[in-house]
Amino acid sequence: MKGTKGIMKKGIFITLEGPDGSGKSTQIQLLSEYLTKKGYDIVLTREPGGTAISEEIRKVILNPELKEMTDMTELLLYASARAQLVGEVIKPALEQGKAVISDRFIDSSAVYQGIGRGLGIETVYEVNSYALQGLMPDITFLLDLDAEEGIKRKKKQAELDRMEQQDVEFHQKVAEGYREIAKRNPERIIRMDGTLPREVICDMIREKVEEQLNK
Ligand code: TYD
Repeated sequence: MKGTKGIMKKGIFITLEGPDGSGKSTQIQLLSEYLTKKGYDIVLTREPGGTAISEEIRKVILNPELKEMTDMTELLLYASARAQLVGEVIKPALEQGKAVISDRFIDSSAVYQGIGRGLGIETVYEVNSYALQGLMPDITFLLDLDAEEGIKRKKKQAELDRMEQQDVEFHQKVAEGYREIAKRNPERIIRMDGTLPREVICDMIREKVEEQLNK
């Protein structure tokens, strides 16, 4: 049958990344309002989390009392939370033509576990290939921020979780790691200065998302 009715909007998978305290949640909120106005069905999610099972895994990962957790256990737990989120939420939503926006995704594992913990990016991708089932974000925004600035912003909050309690060197490796993977994936990862005013970052994100939607 001819006509425009049969043309389905294709789904889009957007992720936001950045060191702790980089302002991702504000931008996610603004972007989701924008896409909703444009008529998109939005699915907002976060990692680790986003499903009942993944939120339970999150509690274990971030529990500051579990100091004995090995780096490999940490990597596998993030991947398990991700496997459930991909299977239960992200894949079905994209198949229905929705816009999925995730606060963190695979790049966080590449940077925090691969570089921060020193497990290696290749190991991270290998383990995560089972969780991702071929899925990758269409576009990723990196809110770039120096480790010290991120920690300063976070310390204003009440309690620091197990990851936030890592020393400043760890967070420096994370910030540097993000720049490295952005360089390696210039076609997907858009790096932005996280210290810019939020309106400026918001406009830049909208522009890039528009470009992606028109591709
Ligand atoms: P969260 O409270 O979501 O941090 P933020 O508010 O800064 O985004 O906690 C998630 C923590 O887990 C954060 O410190 C980054 C870390 N993380 C990893 O180490 N690996 C991963 O794969 C993901 C998704 C997060």
